[in-house]
Amino acid sequence: MKPIYLLSLIALVSCSGMSSGPYETKIHHVTIAKGQLKKDHELITSDVSITTQGVFASRAAHAMFKKGGNIIDAAMAASFVLAVERPQSTGLGGGGFALFHDVKRDKDFPLTVDFREKAPIKAHEKMFLDDQGNVISRMSLDGIFSSGVPGMVAGMTELHKSHGSLPLKVVMRDAIDLAAKGFKVYPELAYALSRRENIIKRFKATCKIFCNKKGEILKEGDLLVQRDLAKTLRTIARKGRRGFYKGWVAKALVGEHRRLGGLMTYNDLNKYNVKYRDPIRANYHGYEVFSMSPPSSGGVHIVEILNILKNDDLKTYGVQHARTVHLRASAMQAAFSDRANYLGDSDYTYVPVVGLTSQKYADEVRHSIPENQALNGLWSNFSNDPFKYDAKNDSELIKKYESPETTHFTIADGKGNVFVSTQTLNGYLGSGIVVPGTGILLNNEMDDFATKPGANNLFGAVGGKKNLVQPEKRPLSSMSPTIVLKDGKPVLALGTPAGTKILTCVVQTIMNYLDHDMPLYEAITATRIHHQWKPNILYIEDSKLPKNTIEHLKRMGHELRFKKFGCRIQAIAFENGKLHGVSDPRGRGLVSGH
Ligand code: GLY
Repeated sequence: MKPIYLLSLIALVSCSGMSSGPYETKIHHVTIAKGQLKKDHELITSDVSITTQGVFASRAAHAMFKKGGNIIDAAMAASFVLAVERPQSTGLGGGGFALFHDVKRDKDFPLTVDFREKAPIKAHEKMFLDDQGNVISRMSLDGIFSSGVPGMVAGMTELHKSHGSLPLKVVMRDAIDLAAKGFKVYPELAYALSRRENIIKRFKATCKIFCNKKGEILKEGDLLVQRDLAKTLRTIARKGRRGFYKGWVAKALVGEHRRLGGLMTYNDLNKYNVKYRDPIRANYHGYEVFSMSPPSSGGVHIVEILNILKNDDLKTYGVQHARTVHLRASAMQAAFSDRANYLGDSDYTYVPVVGLTSQKYADEVRHSIPENQALNGLWSNFSNDPFKYDAKNDSELIKKYESPETTHFTIADGKGNVFVSTQTLNGYLGSGIVVPGTGILLNNEMDDFATKPGANNLFGAVGGKKNLVQPEKRPLSSMSPTIVLKDGKPVLALGTPAGTKILTCVVQTIMNYLDHDMPLYEAITATRIHHQWKPNILYIEDSKLPKNTIEHLKRMGHELRFKKFGCRIQAIAFENGKLHGVSDPRGRGLVSGH
Protein backbone atom coordinates (compact mmCIF):
# COMPACT_ATOMS: atom_id res chain seq x y z
CA MET A 1 0.00 0.00 0.00
CA LYS A 2 1.12 3.52 -0.66
CA PRO A 3 1.64 5.88 2.24
CA ILE A 4 -0.82 8.72 2.58
CA TYR A 5 0.42 11.92 1.07
CA LEU A 6 -0.98 15.26 2.07
CA LEU A 7 -1.45 17.77 -0.69
CA SER A 8 1.86 18.39 -2.30
CA LEU A 9 2.84 20.14 -5.44
CA ILE A 10 4.79 18.52 -8.17
CA ALA A 11 7.70 20.39 -9.57
CA LEU A 12 9.36 19.43 -12.75
CA VAL A 13 13.00 20.15 -12.87
CA SER A 14 15.23 19.64 -15.79
CA CYS A 15 18.70 18.54 -14.99
CA SER A 16 21.08 19.74 -17.61
CA GLY A 17 23.83 17.36 -18.50
CA MET A 18 21.58 14.35 -17.99
CA SER A 19 20.83 13.68 -21.62
CA SER A 20 19.37 10.30 -22.30
CA GLY A 21 19.66 9.14 -25.89
CA PRO A 22 17.55 11.27 -28.18
CA TYR A 23 16.01 13.14 -25.28
CA GLU A 24 17.63 16.33 -24.23
CA THR A 25 16.52 16.63 -20.66
CA LYS A 26 15.73 14.32 -17.85
CA ILE A 27 12.79 15.47 -15.79
CA HIS A 28 11.78 14.30 -12.35
CA HIS A 29 8.79 15.22 -10.34
CA VAL A 30 9.61 16.14 -6.78
CA THR A 31 7.48 17.22 -3.89
CA ILE A 32 8.22 20.84 -3.16
CA ALA A 33 5.50 21.86 -0.78
CA LYS A 34 2.88 20.49 1.51
CA GLY A 35 -0.38 22.18 2.15
CA GLN A 36 -3.93 21.62 3.19
CA LEU A 37 -6.30 19.30 1.45
CA LYS A 38 -8.27 21.22 -1.16
CA LYS A 39 -11.63 22.00 0.39
CA ASP A 40 -14.43 19.73 -0.85
CA HIS A 41 -12.23 18.00 -3.41
CA GLU A 42 -9.96 15.89 -1.23
CA LEU A 43 -10.77 14.06 1.99
CA ILE A 44 -9.18 11.29 4.02
CA THR A 45 -11.59 9.22 6.11
CA SER A 46 -11.79 5.83 7.81
CA ASP A 47 -15.29 4.44 7.36
CA VAL A 48 -16.89 5.70 4.15
CA SER A 49 -15.93 7.86 1.20
CA ILE A 50 -18.05 9.17 -1.65
CA THR A 51 -16.81 11.24 -4.54
CA THR A 52 -19.22 12.53 -7.19
CA GLN A 53 -19.63 15.46 -9.55
CA GLY A 54 -22.61 16.60 -7.53
CA VAL A 55 -22.64 18.38 -4.21
CA PHE A 56 -26.15 17.17 -3.37
CA ALA A 57 -25.36 13.69 -4.67
CA SER A 58 -22.33 13.17 -2.42
CA ARG A 59 -24.25 14.41 0.59
CA ALA A 60 -27.25 12.19 -0.17
CA ALA A 61 -25.05 9.12 -0.59
CA HIS A 62 -23.27 9.92 2.67
CA ALA A 63 -26.63 10.27 4.44
CA MET A 64 -27.51 6.67 3.47
CA PHE A 65 -24.51 5.36 5.39
CA LYS A 66 -25.46 7.53 8.37
CA LYS A 67 -28.94 5.96 8.28
CA GLY A 68 -27.35 2.52 8.52
CA GLY A 69 -27.55 1.77 4.80
CA ASN A 70 -24.89 0.01 2.76
CA ILE A 71 -22.83 0.95 -0.28
CA ILE A 72 -25.62 0.07 -2.74
CA ASP A 73 -28.07 2.30 -0.86
CA ALA A 74 -25.48 5.06 -1.16
CA ALA A 75 -25.00 4.32 -4.88
CA MET A 76 -28.77 4.49 -5.40
CA ALA A 77 -28.97 7.87 -3.70
CA ALA A 78 -25.99 9.18 -5.69
CA SER A 79 -27.42 7.95 -9.02
CA PHE A 80 -30.87 9.41 -8.58
CA VAL A 81 -29.70 12.70 -7.09
CA LEU A 82 -27.19 13.08 -9.93
CA ALA A 83 -30.09 12.54 -12.34
CA VAL A 84 -31.72 15.63 -10.81
CA GLU A 85 -28.59 17.68 -10.17
CA ARG A 86 -26.81 17.03 -13.47
CA PRO A 87 -29.52 16.85 -16.18
CA GLN A 88 -26.79 17.85 -18.63
CA SER A 89 -25.02 14.54 -17.93
CA THR A 90 -27.28 11.78 -16.72
CA GLY A 91 -30.88 10.92 -15.97
CA LEU A 92 -33.66 8.37 -15.82
CA GLY A 93 -33.76 8.45 -19.63
CA GLY A 94 -30.11 7.35 -19.89
CA GLY A 95 -27.90 4.42 -18.96
CA GLY A 96 -24.50 3.38 -17.70
CA PHE A 97 -22.11 0.80 -16.29
CA ALA A 98 -21.07 -0.16 -12.77
CA LEU A 99 -18.45 -2.33 -11.10
CA PHE A 100 -19.10 -3.51 -7.55
CA HIS A 101 -16.31 -5.07 -5.48
CA ASP A 102 -18.37 -6.75 -2.80
CA VAL A 103 -16.26 -8.22 0.02
CA LYS A 104 -18.90 -10.93 0.51
CA ARG A 105 -18.93 -12.01 -3.12
CA ASP A 106 -17.35 -15.40 -3.77
CA LYS A 107 -16.15 -14.63 -7.32
CA ASP A 108 -12.67 -13.16 -7.63
CA PHE A 109 -13.80 -10.26 -9.80
CA PRO A 110 -16.22 -7.38 -9.24
CA LEU A 111 -19.86 -7.67 -10.21
CA THR A 112 -19.93 -5.91 -13.58
CA VAL A 113 -23.26 -4.42 -14.53
CA ASP A 114 -24.27 -3.15 -17.96
CA PHE A 115 -27.35 -0.95 -18.04
CA ARG A 116 -26.41 0.76 -21.27
CA GLU A 117 -29.21 1.95 -23.58
CA LYS A 118 -30.28 -0.37 -26.40
CA ALA A 119 -31.34 0.41 -29.95
CA PRO A 120 -35.14 0.08 -30.36
CA ILE A 121 -36.32 -3.15 -32.00
CA LYS A 122 -37.40 -1.17 -35.07
CA ALA A 123 -33.98 0.49 -35.44
CA HIS A 124 -31.80 -0.45 -38.42
CA GLU A 125 -28.35 0.30 -39.75
CA LYS A 126 -29.45 2.84 -42.37
CA MET A 127 -31.76 4.83 -40.11
CA PHE A 128 -29.51 7.90 -40.10
CA LEU A 129 -28.95 7.97 -43.89
CA ASP A 130 -30.85 9.77 -46.64
CA ASP A 131 -31.87 8.18 -49.96
CA GLN A 132 -28.40 8.80 -51.35
CA GLY A 133 -26.77 7.06 -48.41
CA ASN A 134 -25.49 10.27 -46.85
CA VAL A 135 -25.62 10.82 -43.11
CA ILE A 136 -28.50 13.15 -42.20
CA SER A 137 -26.96 15.94 -40.20
CA ARG A 138 -27.61 15.84 -36.44
CA MET A 139 -30.30 13.17 -36.70
CA SER A 140 -28.38 10.91 -34.32
CA LEU A 141 -27.77 13.81 -31.93
CA ASP A 142 -31.01 15.77 -31.64
CA GLY A 143 -34.63 14.68 -31.43
CA ILE A 144 -36.52 11.43 -31.13
CA PHE A 145 -34.40 9.13 -33.36
CA SER A 146 -31.27 9.89 -31.35
CA SER A 147 -32.72 8.13 -28.34
CA GLY A 148 -32.06 4.54 -27.28
CA VAL A 149 -34.13 2.47 -24.82
CA PRO A 150 -33.15 3.73 -21.34
CA GLY A 151 -31.39 1.40 -18.89
CA MET A 152 -30.55 3.49 -15.83
CA VAL A 153 -33.69 2.76 -13.80
CA ALA A 154 -33.57 -0.97 -14.60
CA GLY A 155 -29.88 -1.23 -13.69
CA MET A 156 -29.98 0.65 -10.42
CA THR A 157 -33.28 -0.74 -9.13
CA GLU A 158 -32.14 -4.29 -9.93
CA LEU A 159 -28.91 -3.73 -7.99
CA HIS A 160 -30.89 -2.29 -5.11
CA LYS A 161 -33.25 -5.25 -5.09
CA SER A 162 -30.38 -7.75 -4.92
CA HIS A 163 -27.94 -5.84 -2.68
CA GLY A 164 -29.62 -2.81 -1.08
CA SER A 165 -30.71 -2.70 2.55
CA LEU A 166 -32.79 0.47 3.00
CA PRO A 167 -36.25 0.77 1.39
CA LEU A 168 -36.44 2.27 -2.10
CA LYS A 169 -38.44 5.21 -0.83
CA VAL A 170 -35.65 6.05 1.62
CA VAL A 171 -32.80 5.87 -0.89
CA MET A 172 -34.75 7.96 -3.40
CA ARG A 173 -36.10 10.58 -0.99
CA ASP A 174 -33.31 13.12 -1.45
CA ALA A 175 -33.65 12.96 -5.23
CA ILE A 176 -37.40 13.51 -4.97
CA ASP A 177 -36.95 16.46 -2.60
CA LEU A 178 -34.25 18.05 -4.71
CA ALA A 179 -36.37 17.79 -7.85
CA ALA A 180 -39.47 19.18 -6.12
CA LYS A 181 -37.80 22.02 -4.20
CA GLY A 182 -35.21 22.86 -6.82
CA PHE A 183 -31.71 24.27 -6.63
CA LYS A 184 -29.82 27.17 -8.10
CA VAL A 185 -28.36 26.71 -11.56
CA TYR A 186 -24.57 26.45 -11.15
CA PRO A 187 -22.01 27.52 -13.78
CA GLU A 188 -21.47 24.10 -15.44
CA LEU A 189 -25.21 23.61 -15.83
CA ALA A 190 -25.73 27.17 -17.08
CA TYR A 191 -23.04 26.56 -19.71
CA ALA A 192 -24.65 23.31 -20.83
CA LEU A 193 -28.08 24.95 -21.09
CA SER A 194 -26.64 27.76 -23.17
CA ARG A 195 -25.00 25.23 -25.51
CA ARG A 196 -28.36 23.49 -25.99
CA GLU A 197 -30.51 26.63 -26.17
CA ASN A 198 -31.89 25.87 -29.65
CA ILE A 199 -32.99 22.35 -28.87
CA ILE A 200 -34.44 23.36 -25.48
CA LYS A 201 -36.58 25.96 -27.20
CA ARG A 202 -37.63 23.52 -29.92
CA PHE A 203 -39.43 21.21 -27.45
CA LYS A 204 -42.17 22.76 -25.33
CA ALA A 205 -41.89 20.24 -22.48
CA THR A 206 -38.13 20.83 -22.32
CA CYS A 207 -38.51 24.61 -22.25
CA LYS A 208 -41.17 24.25 -19.56
CA ILE A 209 -38.40 23.03 -17.23
CA PHE A 210 -35.25 24.73 -18.47
CA CYS A 211 -36.70 28.15 -19.46
CA ASN A 212 -38.07 30.97 -17.32
CA LYS A 213 -41.59 32.44 -17.67
CA LYS A 214 -40.42 34.64 -20.54
CA GLY A 215 -39.23 31.58 -22.45
CA GLU A 216 -35.54 32.34 -21.94
CA ILE A 217 -33.23 29.54 -20.86
CA LEU A 218 -32.30 29.53 -17.18
CA LYS A 219 -29.11 31.30 -16.22
CA GLU A 220 -26.64 30.82 -13.39
CA GLY A 221 -28.36 31.52 -10.07
CA ASP A 222 -31.91 30.85 -11.36
CA LEU A 223 -33.92 28.20 -9.54
CA LEU A 224 -34.32 24.89 -11.40
CA VAL A 225 -37.41 23.04 -10.19
CA GLN A 226 -38.33 19.66 -11.76
CA ARG A 227 -41.81 18.88 -10.39
CA ASP A 228 -42.73 16.32 -13.04
CA LEU A 229 -39.45 14.54 -12.46
CA ALA A 230 -40.24 14.44 -8.72
CA LYS A 231 -43.57 12.78 -9.60
CA THR A 232 -41.82 10.16 -11.75
CA LEU A 233 -39.24 9.54 -9.03
CA ARG A 234 -42.05 9.02 -6.49
CA THR A 235 -43.61 6.42 -8.77
CA ILE A 236 -40.29 4.57 -9.10
CA ALA A 237 -39.80 4.80 -5.32
CA ARG A 238 -43.17 3.05 -4.89
CA LYS A 239 -43.00 0.51 -7.69
CA GLY A 240 -39.34 0.02 -8.57
CA ARG A 241 -38.56 -0.90 -12.19
CA ARG A 242 -42.27 -1.24 -12.97
CA GLY A 243 -42.71 2.43 -12.13
CA PHE A 244 -40.69 3.31 -15.23
CA TYR A 245 -41.07 0.49 -17.75
CA LYS A 246 -44.83 0.03 -17.15
CA GLY A 247 -47.77 2.19 -16.13
CA TRP A 248 -48.24 5.89 -16.73
CA VAL A 249 -44.52 6.64 -17.23
CA ALA A 250 -44.18 3.94 -19.92
CA LYS A 251 -47.36 5.24 -21.56
CA ALA A 252 -45.91 8.75 -21.66
CA LEU A 253 -42.56 7.51 -23.06
CA VAL A 254 -44.16 5.45 -25.82
CA GLY A 255 -46.73 8.19 -26.46
CA GLU A 256 -44.00 10.77 -27.08
CA HIS A 257 -42.22 8.41 -29.48
CA ARG A 258 -45.50 7.87 -31.33
CA ARG A 259 -46.27 11.59 -31.45
CA LEU A 260 -42.86 12.40 -32.92
CA GLY A 261 -42.71 9.38 -35.23
CA GLY A 262 -40.02 7.65 -33.11
CA LEU A 263 -39.30 3.92 -32.89
CA MET A 264 -39.62 2.92 -29.23
CA THR A 265 -42.60 0.74 -28.24
CA TYR A 266 -43.93 -1.01 -25.12
CA ASN A 267 -42.13 -4.10 -26.33
CA ASP A 268 -38.79 -2.26 -26.14
CA LEU A 269 -39.50 -1.23 -22.56
CA ASN A 270 -40.64 -4.72 -21.54
CA LYS A 271 -37.62 -6.34 -23.12
CA TYR A 272 -35.01 -4.00 -21.65
CA ASN A 273 -32.52 -6.24 -19.85
CA VAL A 274 -29.62 -5.50 -17.52
CA LYS A 275 -26.54 -7.58 -18.41
CA TYR A 276 -24.04 -8.98 -15.93
CA ARG A 277 -20.70 -9.29 -17.65
CA ASP A 278 -17.20 -10.45 -16.86
CA PRO A 279 -15.00 -7.39 -16.47
CA ILE A 280 -11.83 -6.85 -18.46
CA ARG A 281 -9.03 -7.86 -16.12
CA ALA A 282 -5.27 -7.65 -16.22
CA ASN A 283 -2.27 -8.21 -14.00
CA TYR A 284 -0.26 -5.06 -13.99
CA HIS A 285 2.92 -4.59 -11.97
CA GLY A 286 1.57 -6.80 -9.20
CA TYR A 287 -1.91 -5.24 -9.21
CA GLU A 288 -5.10 -6.57 -10.71
CA VAL A 289 -6.94 -4.04 -12.85
CA PHE A 290 -10.66 -4.55 -13.49
CA SER A 291 -12.57 -2.36 -15.91
CA MET A 292 -15.63 -2.33 -18.14
CA SER A 293 -15.94 -4.86 -20.93
CA PRO A 294 -17.71 -4.37 -24.30
CA PRO A 295 -19.98 -2.65 -25.24
CA SER A 296 -17.48 -0.33 -23.59
CA SER A 297 -14.14 0.03 -25.30
CA GLY A 298 -12.75 1.44 -22.05
CA GLY A 299 -11.47 -1.64 -20.23
CA VAL A 300 -9.94 -3.27 -23.32
CA HIS A 301 -7.94 -0.19 -24.23
CA ILE A 302 -6.95 0.78 -20.70
CA VAL A 303 -5.40 -2.67 -20.36
CA GLU A 304 -3.90 -2.52 -23.86
CA ILE A 305 -2.19 0.81 -23.11
CA LEU A 306 -0.94 -0.40 -19.71
CA ASN A 307 0.45 -3.56 -21.32
CA ILE A 308 2.17 -1.66 -24.14
CA LEU A 309 4.01 0.56 -21.65
CA LYS A 310 4.48 -2.06 -18.94
CA ASN A 311 8.18 -2.61 -19.47
CA ASP A 312 9.22 1.01 -20.02
CA ASP A 313 10.72 2.59 -16.95
CA LEU A 314 8.93 5.91 -17.40
CA LYS A 315 9.19 6.80 -13.73
CA THR A 316 12.84 7.62 -14.28
CA TYR A 317 11.83 10.27 -16.78
CA GLY A 318 8.72 11.63 -15.06
CA VAL A 319 5.23 12.23 -16.39
CA GLN A 320 6.05 15.41 -18.28
CA HIS A 321 9.14 14.25 -20.10
CA ALA A 322 8.94 14.10 -23.89
CA ARG A 323 9.72 10.37 -23.84
CA THR A 324 6.83 9.63 -21.48
CA VAL A 325 4.42 11.79 -23.46
CA HIS A 326 5.56 10.31 -26.79
CA LEU A 327 5.22 6.71 -25.63
CA ARG A 328 1.90 7.31 -23.92
CA ALA A 329 0.56 9.08 -27.01
CA SER A 330 1.79 6.29 -29.31
CA ALA A 331 0.19 3.60 -27.15
CA MET A 332 -3.05 5.59 -27.20
CA GLN A 333 -2.91 5.76 -31.00
CA ALA A 334 -2.49 2.00 -31.20
CA ALA A 335 -5.45 1.54 -28.88
CA PHE A 336 -7.70 3.88 -30.85
CA SER A 337 -6.71 2.31 -34.15
CA ASP A 338 -7.75 -1.04 -32.65
CA ARG A 339 -10.91 0.51 -31.26
CA ALA A 340 -11.82 1.60 -34.77
CA ASN A 341 -11.13 -1.86 -36.13
CA TYR A 342 -12.33 -4.32 -33.55
CA LEU A 343 -14.76 -2.89 -30.98
CA GLY A 344 -18.53 -3.09 -30.78
CA ASP A 345 -21.25 -4.75 -28.70
CA SER A 346 -19.84 -8.24 -28.12
CA ASP A 347 -23.39 -9.65 -27.97
CA TYR A 348 -23.67 -8.84 -31.68
CA THR A 349 -20.17 -8.94 -33.12
CA TYR A 350 -16.97 -10.79 -32.29
CA VAL A 351 -14.53 -8.60 -30.33
CA PRO A 352 -11.03 -10.12 -29.95
CA VAL A 353 -10.75 -9.18 -26.28
CA VAL A 354 -8.21 -11.89 -25.43
CA GLY A 355 -5.87 -10.83 -28.22
CA LEU A 356 -6.21 -7.11 -27.61
CA THR A 357 -5.48 -7.50 -23.91
CA SER A 358 -2.67 -10.04 -24.24
CA GLN A 359 0.88 -9.12 -23.29
CA LYS A 360 2.27 -10.72 -26.45
CA TYR A 361 0.16 -8.46 -28.62
CA ALA A 362 1.11 -5.42 -26.55
CA ASP A 363 4.81 -6.31 -26.85
CA GLU A 364 4.44 -6.56 -30.61
CA VAL A 365 2.79 -3.15 -30.71
CA ARG A 366 5.49 -1.68 -28.44
CA HIS A 367 8.18 -2.86 -30.87
CA SER A 368 6.42 -0.98 -33.66
CA ILE A 369 6.58 2.36 -31.87
CA PRO A 370 9.52 4.44 -33.09
CA GLU A 371 11.54 5.68 -30.13
CA ASN A 372 11.93 9.19 -31.38
CA GLN A 373 9.35 9.82 -34.05
CA ALA A 374 5.63 10.49 -34.07
CA LEU A 375 3.50 7.86 -35.75
CA ASN A 376 1.70 10.60 -37.67
CA GLY A 377 -1.54 8.70 -37.76
CA LEU A 378 0.07 5.92 -39.79
CA TRP A 379 -0.56 3.31 -37.19
CA SER A 380 -2.40 1.13 -39.68
CA ASN A 381 0.84 0.86 -41.70
CA PHE A 382 2.09 -1.45 -38.99
CA SER A 383 0.77 -4.95 -39.21
CA ASN A 384 -0.26 -5.52 -35.61
CA ASP A 385 -2.84 -8.24 -35.48
CA PRO A 386 -4.55 -9.13 -32.19
CA PHE A 387 -6.22 -12.17 -33.78
CA LYS A 388 -2.86 -13.96 -33.71
CA TYR A 389 -3.34 -14.11 -29.95
CA ASP A 390 -7.07 -14.65 -30.02
CA ALA A 391 -9.41 -17.51 -30.82
CA LYS A 392 -11.12 -16.28 -33.97
CA ASN A 393 -10.53 -14.15 -37.01
CA ASP A 394 -12.40 -11.15 -38.27
CA SER A 395 -11.34 -8.12 -40.27
CA GLU A 396 -14.29 -5.76 -40.22
CA LEU A 397 -13.78 -2.09 -39.52
CA ILE A 398 -15.45 0.21 -37.06
CA LYS A 399 -15.40 3.93 -36.58
CA LYS A 400 -16.82 5.87 -33.70
CA TYR A 401 -16.43 8.03 -30.65
CA GLU A 402 -18.68 9.89 -28.24
CA SER A 403 -19.61 13.12 -26.63
CA PRO A 404 -17.69 14.66 -23.74
CA GLU A 405 -20.60 14.74 -21.30
CA THR A 406 -21.53 11.96 -18.82
CA THR A 407 -20.83 11.61 -15.09
CA HIS A 408 -18.96 9.28 -12.77
CA PHE A 409 -19.05 8.53 -9.05
CA THR A 410 -16.98 6.33 -6.74
CA ILE A 411 -17.99 5.04 -3.30
CA ALA A 412 -16.01 2.93 -0.83
CA ASP A 413 -16.36 1.78 2.73
CA GLY A 414 -13.87 0.75 5.39
CA LYS A 415 -14.83 -2.93 5.00
CA GLY A 416 -13.34 -2.90 1.52
CA ASN A 417 -16.54 -2.62 -0.53
CA VAL A 418 -16.17 -0.44 -3.61
CA PHE A 419 -18.73 0.79 -6.13
CA VAL A 420 -17.82 2.69 -9.30
CA SER A 421 -20.35 3.81 -11.88
CA THR A 422 -20.31 5.95 -14.99
CA GLN A 423 -23.74 7.09 -16.19
CA THR A 424 -24.83 9.19 -19.13
CA LEU A 425 -27.45 10.73 -21.40
CA ASN A 426 -24.56 11.17 -23.90
CA GLY A 427 -24.52 14.83 -25.06
CA TYR A 428 -25.64 17.81 -22.98
CA LEU A 429 -29.31 17.13 -22.10
CA GLY A 430 -29.24 14.06 -24.34
CA SER A 431 -31.68 14.28 -27.25
CA GLY A 432 -33.13 17.54 -25.89
CA ILE A 433 -36.56 15.93 -25.53
CA VAL A 434 -38.33 15.91 -22.19
CA VAL A 435 -41.23 13.46 -22.21
CA PRO A 436 -44.25 15.63 -21.31
CA GLY A 437 -45.54 15.15 -17.79
CA THR A 438 -42.56 13.04 -16.65
CA GLY A 439 -39.57 15.40 -16.46
CA ILE A 440 -37.54 12.64 -18.15
CA LEU A 441 -34.91 13.77 -20.61
CA LEU A 442 -34.35 11.19 -23.32
CA ASN A 443 -30.75 10.24 -24.13
CA ASN A 444 -29.04 10.69 -27.50
CA GLU A 445 -27.00 7.53 -27.14
CA MET A 446 -27.83 6.40 -30.71
CA ASP A 447 -25.03 8.78 -31.73
CA ASP A 448 -22.59 6.36 -30.10
CA PHE A 449 -23.34 3.95 -32.95
CA ALA A 450 -21.59 4.40 -36.28
CA THR A 451 -24.15 6.14 -38.47
CA LYS A 452 -22.31 4.72 -41.48
CA PRO A 453 -18.92 3.00 -41.93
CA GLY A 454 -16.29 5.63 -42.54
CA ALA A 455 -18.38 8.59 -41.42
CA ASN A 456 -16.84 10.93 -38.91
CA ASN A 457 -19.10 12.20 -36.19
CA LEU A 458 -19.10 15.39 -34.17
CA PHE A 459 -15.83 14.64 -32.39
CA GLY A 460 -13.78 13.33 -35.28
CA ALA A 461 -13.12 9.71 -34.31
CA VAL A 462 -13.60 6.96 -36.82
CA GLY A 463 -16.30 4.23 -36.83
CA GLY A 464 -17.30 1.16 -38.82
CA LYS A 465 -19.26 -2.02 -39.31
CA LYS A 466 -18.99 -3.60 -35.89
CA ASN A 467 -20.66 -0.59 -34.37
CA LEU A 468 -23.47 -0.14 -36.89
CA VAL A 469 -27.03 0.09 -35.55
CA GLN A 470 -28.88 -3.21 -35.10
CA PRO A 471 -32.14 -3.85 -33.25
CA GLU A 472 -31.55 -4.22 -29.49
CA LYS A 473 -27.79 -3.70 -29.83
CA ARG A 474 -25.92 -1.45 -27.39
CA PRO A 475 -23.80 1.35 -28.84
CA LEU A 476 -20.03 1.38 -28.30
CA SER A 477 -18.96 3.38 -25.26
CA SER A 478 -15.75 4.62 -23.68
CA MET A 479 -17.08 4.67 -20.14
CA SER A 480 -14.54 3.02 -17.88
CA PRO A 481 -15.47 2.48 -14.25
CA THR A 482 -12.29 0.84 -12.93
CA ILE A 483 -11.15 -0.90 -9.74
CA VAL A 484 -7.55 -1.88 -8.95
CA LEU A 485 -6.90 -4.63 -6.38
CA LYS A 486 -3.75 -6.08 -4.82
CA ASP A 487 -3.97 -9.49 -3.18
CA GLY A 488 -7.74 -9.26 -3.50
CA LYS A 489 -7.94 -5.96 -1.60
CA PRO A 490 -8.86 -2.61 -3.18
CA VAL A 491 -6.08 -0.13 -3.89
CA LEU A 492 -7.70 2.40 -6.22
CA ALA A 493 -11.15 2.96 -7.74
CA LEU A 494 -11.90 5.60 -10.34
CA GLY A 495 -13.65 6.83 -13.46
CA THR A 496 -14.51 10.03 -15.30
CA PRO A 497 -16.76 11.58 -17.94
CA ALA A 498 -15.38 12.92 -21.26
CA GLY A 499 -16.19 10.70 -24.26
CA THR A 500 -13.14 9.08 -25.81
CA LYS A 501 -10.92 10.90 -23.32
CA ILE A 502 -12.44 8.79 -20.54
CA LEU A 503 -10.14 5.87 -21.13
CA THR A 504 -6.99 7.94 -21.69
CA CYS A 505 -7.63 10.02 -18.55
CA VAL A 506 -8.28 6.89 -16.48
CA VAL A 507 -5.16 5.12 -17.74
CA GLN A 508 -2.96 8.16 -17.10
CA THR A 509 -4.28 8.50 -13.56
CA ILE A 510 -3.57 4.80 -12.89
CA MET A 511 -0.01 5.10 -14.22
CA ASN A 512 0.62 8.38 -12.38
CA TYR A 513 -0.52 6.84 -9.11
CA LEU A 514 0.84 3.29 -9.35
CA ASP A 515 3.97 3.70 -11.44
CA HIS A 516 5.07 7.27 -10.82
CA ASP A 517 4.17 7.12 -7.11
CA MET A 518 2.37 10.44 -7.32
CA PRO A 519 0.03 11.34 -4.48
CA LEU A 520 -3.56 10.82 -5.62
CA TYR A 521 -4.36 14.51 -5.87
CA GLU A 522 -1.34 15.14 -8.09
CA ALA A 523 -1.99 12.01 -10.12
CA ILE A 524 -5.35 13.57 -10.97
CA THR A 525 -4.31 17.20 -11.39
CA ALA A 526 -1.22 16.47 -13.51
CA THR A 527 -1.38 17.75 -17.09
CA ARG A 528 -3.10 15.18 -19.29
CA ILE A 529 -2.55 14.24 -22.89
CA HIS A 530 -4.85 12.53 -25.37
CA HIS A 531 -4.33 10.96 -28.80
CA GLN A 532 -7.12 9.06 -30.52
CA TRP A 533 -5.30 8.12 -33.74
CA LYS A 534 -7.73 10.10 -35.86
CA PRO A 535 -7.50 13.05 -36.00
CA ASN A 536 -3.71 12.87 -35.92
CA ILE A 537 -3.34 15.37 -33.12
CA LEU A 538 -1.64 15.08 -29.77
CA TYR A 539 -3.93 16.99 -27.44
CA ILE A 540 -2.31 18.50 -24.37
CA GLU A 541 -4.38 19.91 -21.58
CA ASP A 542 -3.88 23.68 -21.59
CA SER A 543 -0.18 24.24 -22.16
CA LYS A 544 1.28 23.23 -18.89
CA LEU A 545 4.07 20.99 -20.15
CA PRO A 546 7.61 22.33 -19.92
CA LYS A 547 8.70 24.32 -22.94
CA ASN A 548 11.53 21.93 -23.81
CA THR A 549 9.08 18.99 -23.73
CA ILE A 550 6.81 20.82 -26.17
CA GLU A 551 9.70 21.62 -28.46
CA HIS A 552 10.97 18.09 -28.33
CA LEU A 553 7.56 16.64 -29.17
CA LYS A 554 7.31 18.98 -32.15
CA ARG A 555 10.74 17.87 -33.37
CA MET A 556 9.52 14.28 -33.19
CA GLY A 557 6.78 15.28 -35.61
CA HIS A 558 3.84 15.40 -33.20
CA GLU A 559 1.13 17.82 -34.17
CA LEU A 560 0.16 19.47 -30.91
CA ARG A 561 -3.01 21.15 -29.85
CA PHE A 562 -3.68 22.66 -26.44
CA LYS A 563 -7.17 22.58 -25.00
CA LYS A 564 -9.20 21.93 -21.90
CA PHE A 565 -10.25 18.31 -21.43
CA GLY A 566 -13.65 17.35 -20.03
CA CYS A 567 -12.20 14.66 -17.73
CA ARG A 568 -13.29 14.93 -14.11
CA ILE A 569 -11.76 11.94 -12.33
CA GLN A 570 -13.59 10.81 -9.19
CA ALA A 571 -11.22 8.48 -7.32
CA ILE A 572 -10.76 6.79 -3.99
CA ALA A 573 -7.48 5.19 -2.90
CA PHE A 574 -7.03 2.78 0.00
CA GLU A 575 -3.95 3.91 1.91
CA ASN A 576 -2.82 2.50 5.26
CA GLY A 577 -6.33 1.56 6.29
CA LYS A 578 -7.77 4.94 5.27
CA LEU A 579 -9.93 6.04 2.38
CA HIS A 580 -8.41 8.87 0.37
CA GLY A 581 -11.05 10.47 -1.87
CA VAL A 582 -10.37 13.02 -4.59
CA SER A 583 -12.95 14.72 -6.78
CA ASP A 584 -11.21 16.31 -9.75
CA PRO A 585 -10.86 19.99 -8.80
CA ARG A 586 -11.26 21.07 -12.44
CA GLY A 587 -15.03 20.85 -12.03
CA ARG A 588 -17.98 20.71 -9.67
CA GLY A 589 -17.77 17.88 -7.18
CA LEU A 590 -17.58 16.91 -3.55
CA VAL A 591 -15.86 14.24 -1.53
CA SER A 592 -17.98 13.34 1.44
CA GLY A 593 -17.48 10.73 4.15
CA HIS A 594 -16.44 10.02 7.70
N1 GLY B 1 -21.76 8.42 -24.33
C1 GLY B 1 -20.48 8.34 -23.78
C2 GLY B 1 -19.95 6.96 -23.71
O1 GLY B 1 -20.74 6.05 -23.61
O2 GLY B 1 -18.76 6.74 -23.76
